[in-house]
Amino acid sequence: MPREELRSLVLAMRAHLEWLQAGGVTGLPRGAEGVAAPPAPPTRPAQRPAVTEARPPWREAAPLADSRERPAPSRPMELPLPAVALAPALPMPAPSRAPQVVRYADLPDPLPVLGQEGLDLTRGILGECTRCKLCHGRNSLVFGNGAADTKLVFVGEGPGAEEDRTGLPFVGAAGDLLTRMIAAMGLSRDQVYICNVVKCRPPGNRTPEPDEIAACRPFLRAQIQAIHPQIIVALGRTPAQVLLNTTAPISRIRGKFSSWEGVPVMPTFHPAYLLRTPSAKRQVWEDLQLVMTALKKAALPS
Ligand code: URA
Repeated sequence: MPREELRSLVLAMRAHLEWLQAGGVTGLPRGAEGVAAPPAPPTRPAQRPAVTEARPPWREAAPLADSRERPAPSRPMELPLPAVALAPALPMPAPSRAPQVVRYADLPDPLPVLGQEGLDLTRGILGECTRCKLCHGRNSLVFGNGAADTKLVFVGEGPGAEEDRTGLPFVGAAGDLLTRMIAAMGLSRDQVYICNVVKCRPPGNRTPEPDEIAACRPFLRAQIQAIHPQIIVALGRTPAQVLLNTTAPISRIRGKFSSWEGVPVMPTFHPAYLLRTPSAKRQVWEDLQLVMTALKKAALPS
């Protein structure tokens, strides 16, 4: 890389760090901590419970360009960049697997009201949020939608282009597939609640960064608290890792119930992944059947 280009890169990085520092950021995660590797090819666990129907009943989607489809991950640049001297130096936190905890004084914990009132309160406090850098690129904040009194919540990663345009979660190509998956479970979208880990679209549909996830986490928590569902389905790696506080690959943790603050969580593949890898639909259908079995006794609102 030419010297001049390298110099302007360093200056830009310095300006960005100073901007973060001015905004109250006191540390940055080391390296790629908290950012997990791309999902390994799905494997079938040795002992899966028998399922009644192996083939997913929703129709095969034509391979289409989903708003969440991401360009092939590019390798991080491995440049021996000179250290950027900041005065005072930013303290680097020790690597930790504990979730970053952000508390907002204006978001009561626990929520004083539940159900739709709790959701409305949470949405009101979220307001025209500027708590993280995703606010700069968003058109709409995508809070979530569906039934506040449902037993079943789906959590995705973050809005894509179509969601950012409409303000509604899962309305792009992946959303169409999710709608068919929900219908195959004998439910409709307005009988469940759908939201995302982050409420604003990450640029280019990239994976949300740890600071963005941390900034939104209290609101996701409040949404789940307000609804207190019987089961959460985590759609893909990001919500599964965030809710279960793990860096394990989705291919390893999917298909087994774990717990988020006492609420059973079923991690499964993201519908956008299914659009790229239709062969994984069978596994997702198995996971959803486990959810249906567990929900059997719980009457969903009609
Ligand atoms: N749309 C969403 O709202 N969330 C996702 O994770 C993907 C698409």
